[in-house]
Amino acid sequence: MTVNTDKKSVAVPEEEIIRQKEYIQFVRSIVEQRYVEAPKAFVHTYGCQGNVSDGERLKGMLEQMGYEMTDELNGADLVLYNTCAIREHAEDRVFGNVGALKPMKTANKEMKILLCGCMMQQERVAQKIRKSYPFVDIVFGTHVIHRLPEFLYTSLSNGKKVYELPEHDGVICEELPVHRDSDFKAWIPIMYGCNNFCTYCIVPYVRGRERSRDPQMIIAEAKELVAQGYKEITLLGQNVNSYGKHPDYGMNFASLLKELNAIEGDFIIRFMTSHPKDCTYELLDTMAECEKVAKHLHLPFQSGSNRVLDAMNRRYTREKYLDLLRYAYSVMPELSVTSDVIVGFPGETYEEFCETVSMVEEAKFTSMYTFIFSSREGTVASKMPDPVSREEKGKWFKELLDTQEKIAAVRTASMVGKTYRVLCESVSKGGLIEGRTGGNIIIEFPADKSVIGSFRKVKVTESLTWILRGELC
Ligand code: SAH
Ligand code: SF4
Ligand code: F3S
Repeated sequence: MTVNTDKKSVAVPEEEIIRQKEYIQFVRSIVEQRYVEAPKAFVHTYGCQGNVSDGERLKGMLEQMGYEMTDELNGADLVLYNTCAIREHAEDRVFGNVGALKPMKTANKEMKILLCGCMMQQERVAQKIRKSYPFVDIVFGTHVIHRLPEFLYTSLSNGKKVYELPEHDGVICEELPVHRDSDFKAWIPIMYGCNNFCTYCIVPYVRGRERSRDPQMIIAEAKELVAQGYKEITLLGQNVNSYGKHPDYGMNFASLLKELNAIEGDFIIRFMTSHPKDCTYELLDTMAECEKVAKHLHLPFQSGSNRVLDAMNRRYTREKYLDLLRYAYSVMPELSVTSDVIVGFPGETYEEFCETVSMVEEAKFTSMYTFIFSSREGTVASKMPDPVSREEKGKWFKELLDTQEKIAAVRTASMVGKTYRVLCESVSKGGLIEGRTGGNIIIEFPADKSVIGSFRKVKVTESLTWILRGELC
């Protein structure tokens, strides 16, 4: 494994950026000649926020090339699926959705179909697309998204198929245009890739090695967003706690948080994901002292059994994790902790699973993302004996959800009568406004739509297990 520490070796060279800007103009002139009105692009992203953030950059480039974004698949002139490979289910959905495009392509030969993202970075998948889905025009991997203009030009100008999936440790491309989906919540990627190689996980294989963005770029982006009126900035990375391992940066994640906290304006800072092995007391102290940093920590624990954690290559113990939580609550009593957990890792016994249940009871998470182990080709865990049936794992899964539901119900009930500052985000199905607390808990309340995008104080009046109801103060 190589670790990127040289800024020059990971930055996309200036000449390459200029080349892509030229392609943007070439595509723009083809598009202007070919279509009377701006062609419509339907872009759908699967997977994590890091992928969503890539999706916003892909949309930014498409807009510069003359496309208009649409939420309607029917009638789209270009369809782009930005895919995820984290679990088999995620991949199955993509294959199903790509298959469904065939009749559309038959009816409209001019339509372009593009696939990118983590799933496409796997050779096995790219081959399957070539063989079984020949109507797909462009397939490209995670390390070349900045070359979308070039790929689209090739396809539009001579109809050639493009399959571009270079193996790479990964790059950083700073100058991509961004089409932000929201005008008050923004993602800022602070690092890419992962070096951890948890034995179940495909991410290090499809996203390359860990590489941190220059802190000055991050700070400048945050300042610009705040000046534009953004109210929430979420810093992204697979393991933000290991941010900044670069001789020139002189900054770790805690110091980056302090710098961002010092930007003037009324906004909050979130971040994800934190890896417990790199979570330090220094970081927790920094969270406590920075008033703009939301008191929410997403700290995936994956398993409550030390044997399973070791087999997962997580490099912390149950005790270390619980010690971090104890310290975190001592410096931030109002902290809300959420987590990820995997049920049915190969070789996990029922007794070991029960250690996960007891961990959940002890940790009292606000909420949890719970997954049944999914074997990913090429990972170490995919070769481990896995004797427990899917049906049995399903029963364990349900048991864990029931435990968490009881804990969440107690937690939400304890919020009734208290007042929280929320960022108003959207309208619920029932017509109420949904606001999110710093702890990442949704409160619904009656109000006019005009509050969306602003901070408001809401008093909680009622708790239903997962949802809180309240009223504007
Ligand atoms: N970098 C983050 C996790 C990113 S993936 C971290 O280390 O915490 C998001 C979650 O998907 C993981 O936390 C894990 O719970 C789950 N996950 C990853 N690979 C999986 C697999 N093969 N099967 C089931 N769940 C998986
Ligand atoms: Fe996957 Fe582990 Fe890296 Fe998270 S830290 S992305 S779970 S390998
Ligand atoms: Fe999925 Fe890739 Fe994210 S595998 S979870 S989209 S890094």
